[in-house]
Amino acid sequence: MYQSLKNQPVIFVIFGGTGDLNSRKLAPALYNLFLDNWLPDKFSIIGTGRTPLTDEQFSEKILEGINKFSRTGKVKDDKWAEFSKHLHYQSANAKDVESYKAFGTRIDAHNAEWGTPANVIYYLAVSPDFFPIIAENISKSKLAEDPEKTRIVIEKPFGHDLESSRSLNKLLAGIFNECQIYRIDHYLGKETVQNIMAFRFANAILEPIWNRNFIEHVQISVTEQLGVEERGDYYDGSGAMRDMIQNHILQLLCLVAMEAPNSFSADEVRNRKLDVLNAMRPFTPEDVRMSTVRGQYGSGWMEGKEVPGYRKEPKVNPDSNTETFAAIKFFVDNWRWKGIPFYVRTGKRMHQTSSVISIQFKDVPHLIFPSEVSESWQQNRLVISIQPEMSIRLQVQAKRPGLEMVLNTVDMVFDYKGTFEKQAPEAYETLLLDTMIGDQTLFMRGDQVEVAWELLMPILKAWEGRQSLNFPNYSADSWGPELAEALIARDGFHWFTLPLTGKK
Ligand code: BG6
Repeated sequence: MYQSLKNQPVIFVIFGGTGDLNSRKLAPALYNLFLDNWLPDKFSIIGTGRTPLTDEQFSEKILEGINKFSRTGKVKDDKWAEFSKHLHYQSANAKDVESYKAFGTRIDAHNAEWGTPANVIYYLAVSPDFFPIIAENISKSKLAEDPEKTRIVIEKPFGHDLESSRSLNKLLAGIFNECQIYRIDHYLGKETVQNIMAFRFANAILEPIWNRNFIEHVQISVTEQLGVEERGDYYDGSGAMRDMIQNHILQLLCLVAMEAPNSFSADEVRNRKLDVLNAMRPFTPEDVRMSTVRGQYGSGWMEGKEVPGYRKEPKVNPDSNTETFAAIKFFVDNWRWKGIPFYVRTGKRMHQTSSVISIQFKDVPHLIFPSEVSESWQQNRLVISIQPEMSIRLQVQAKRPGLEMVLNTVDMVFDYKGTFEKQAPEAYETLLLDTMIGDQTLFMRGDQVEVAWELLMPILKAWEGRQSLNFPNYSADSWGPELAEALIARDGFHWFTLPLTGKK
């Protein structure tokens, strides 16, 4: 599959070419794919934006981004000289259909020069308000006539709610086939997230215990030390539910809860994830009250530096009701998971940056050891650390060396750094390569996105309809609001401390 790629020319048209996402993620990812020899011999990257720039000025901007954000560090002069030959810039007003003629001209010129039609990938690295108009203008300008050769990549958020996601899906379906639409959830491209499927379905020993008979509960915790930074205008209309839970966290939950697909094909995998979303228990108003917690950060100190509360952040409404933290208890009502709670939490300005999935197993049926030898007793726990630590730990009890019988919890660890020498690629490298190959396994299908929105709508509506009177309700550098502790403590559990600290 990868080999045939080398002979298939590709053109990336990046809307939002002068934007942050391109500088930080897309350009470094494309450069690293180039370094590792994954890009076809004939390729072109056409950045587009409103600002008039020459190709050279655009290249300068891209170079700055790569030097700052690439995992491989600063560019090597000879490699950069080669790569930058493929960079072009076309200034355009994305709302004006006339602007699109220039893309057609450039694409035709490349095709004529290469003597074979390129795959054209339109990457929408722009604010979501632009998604519909760009898709429509691509269609009106006849730039997506060949379904075999054109693809569109849509960044998140995909819709603002169920209704808007449905209408965006409908609009796209009128222009593209589903197999041309790549809805990004960058968590799916992370090495450790991809490994969840490998871990679950390439190891026979897990399946017999991966169910309600052996597992007591599951925790998914994605916490960040960062605040909203410069993204106040976007985030204030979004919040933690839309920004993290609707996409990244529900996808993690699906990977833990899904049945084994029959094969590793994109649709098989996505069908099994959809089954999970369809099996998730809908929220009644009582569930929203009892099983969800929202929070917003106040000011505080992070690593010796005073940081403002959310309402004082740039471009945020000073009376904002937007949640920067959310904790939810979900249930997956099927044979495998009935009755097993999945607790998820996410928040900004938290004590630690860490994404961890913890699978807590049930206790031994009968304790044969006297309580004094097992003071630190802990049920078996599997801790899948997504980032910044990349590891899987199975926590078990062991006898501490010595003349007496004393039990300790110890970790059996698979640690990426200690096991593999090769540096893991960035999520965007994997995802961009997949758009070129035409593999949609790691992308969201339209129906998944809609079912995820459907599940969360009762919570979002309840929260929007009822102003939170106690915001801000957690201070920066904490573990979130106290109510989040109560949510899980009511069931007799607590949020697990995360392994190792990570800084961002
Ligand atoms: C993005 C969110 O999708 O994911 C951000 O919009 C969040 O608010 C980011 O900070 C987290 O991604 P990562 O890869 O840094 O964990």
